Amino acid sequence: GAPVEVNVSKIEPGQLLRVEWRGKPVWIVSRPQSVLDNLDKIGSQLRDPNSEEPQQPEYAQNSYRSLKPELLVSVGLCTHLGCSPTYLPGSFEEQVQGVEYGFFCPCHGSKFDMAGRVFQGVPAPLNLVVPPHYYVDENTILIG
Ligand code: FES
Repeated sequence: GAPVEVNVSKIEPGQLLRVEWRGKPVWIVSRPQSVLDNLDKIGSQLRDPNSEEPQQPEYAQNSYRSLKPELLVSVGLCTHLGCSPTYLPGSFEEQVQGVEYGFFCPCHGSKFDMAGRVFQGVPAPLNLVVPPHYYVDENTILIG
C-alpha cells in the first residue's frame, strides 16, 4: 500500500480524523492539554502503560505514544479480534467519576485510554497499534 498523507492544520482539540491506510482505519486524535496532563496518572490501571511490548515503534514507547504529544496517530482496530472501537471524547475528570472516555470496543468490551493504551481486565491483549509515520512538515503527517 502507498503511504497516506494527512493534513492536520484544521484539527480541533478533541477531534478525531479518520483516514484509510492499507485498508485499515487510521485515527489522528487531537488531545487537549487536560487529557495530556492526566496520561501519566492512570498507568496503574493499564496493562502496558509505557508500551514496552516490542511491536511498538520507538516513538510510541512513552505515555503519549506519539511524536507530538497533542496528536495521537493510531490504527483504529481493536487488538483483540479487530473490531473498530468507538471514540468517547470525555475528560479524565469524567472518567474518574465512572464515565467512559477514550476508546471502547463494542464487540467484547475492551477499553483503551486517550493514548490507545489497553486497560487491565479486558480481552484485548495489547495497546492499539501505532503505524509507522512521520511529519513531512508542521501540518503534514505521512503514514506508512
Ligand atoms: Fe474488541 Fe473483542 S474485538 S474486544
